[in-house]
Amino acid sequence: MLKGKHLLEPMDFTLEETDEIFATADDIIDNPKKYAHVADGMLMATLFYEPSTRTRLSFEAAMLRLGGQVIGFSEPGSSSVSKGESIADTTKTIGCYADIAVMRHPKEGAPRVAAMNSTIPVINAGDGGHQHPTQTLTDLMTIRTYKGRLENLTVGLCGDLMFGRTVHSLIKALSRYSNIKIVLISPKELVIPEYVRKEVLIKNNIEFKEVRKLEDALPELDVLYMTRVQRERFFNEEDYIRLKDSYILDGAKMKLAKDDMIIMHPLPRVNEIAVEVDDDPRARYFDQMKIGMYVRMALVVKLLGLEA
Ligand code: NCD
Repeated sequence: MLKGKHLLEPMDFTLEETDEIFATADDIIDNPKKYAHVADGMLMATLFYEPSTRTRLSFEAAMLRLGGQVIGFSEPGSSSVSKGESIADTTKTIGCYADIAVMRHPKEGAPRVAAMNSTIPVINAGDGGHQHPTQTLTDLMTIRTYKGRLENLTVGLCGDLMFGRTVHSLIKALSRYSNIKIVLISPKELVIPEYVRKEVLIKNNIEFKEVRKLEDALPELDVLYMTRVQRERFFNEEDYIRLKDSYILDGAKMKLAKDDMIIMHPLPRVNEIAVEVDDDPRARYFDQMKIGMYVRMALVVKLLGLEA
């Protein structure tokens, strides 16, 4: 039963519950009219303490397409947060007005604090460099849609593996599927955090390797997950400038990849994928973005226990 649950980490849902979300998302894609009024009279609060385009808009679009409505803020400066209100108090307030809350916050663990103080379901829409579980549901559904499976895959993750929360969440989620091989492609300054290496990869016996050059990894990959260097999490601008263009996927490099590899990216892109690659049939990052809205519709339907 997903009704009333929070989604703070990718492992909060069992594999069966995750499949339920995908099945509902598929049904929404096939029968959007059936779902157009399931959330009539319900309110979603979006609490965005950090910038976002896709995640916030896809949640808002999701709620509106289900017939519900949305309140919230995207500029914490315009709310009582700027007066020093705690997350706990803000959450208690939101619970009086809305039926479900979506929170993005620069501090790791903030959505968990919110959930502990909440009478309504709280969804983590990204907490600092930590986790981003709804992006992960989107990523898994994209892989399932375009590769037809979530097992027996070699998945390369490239870019800022240290600060990229989507990477941390995706690796965690993939560790539950069988025969997954992970190839970590990053500069040595931006390798995955120790807790992901030890508590996820090593603990679950996942086959993985670390390489510095994208060209070395490309030929064996079924999925390539590109990420941007997370400027906002750097302590100094010089390091960011030195590392920001570490990897640029272009048409020439794509010649090294399998014909049926798919390229994913949580977006926003900066320089790491040349625009010429957008026309390559293997590029799936814009499809991925669209899938994100359907996955979030399915998530809202399930957490609110709505019936189509
Ligand atoms: C990601 C995020 O916010 O972590 N964006 C998103 O939600 N699609 C990736 C990023 O910002 O690089």
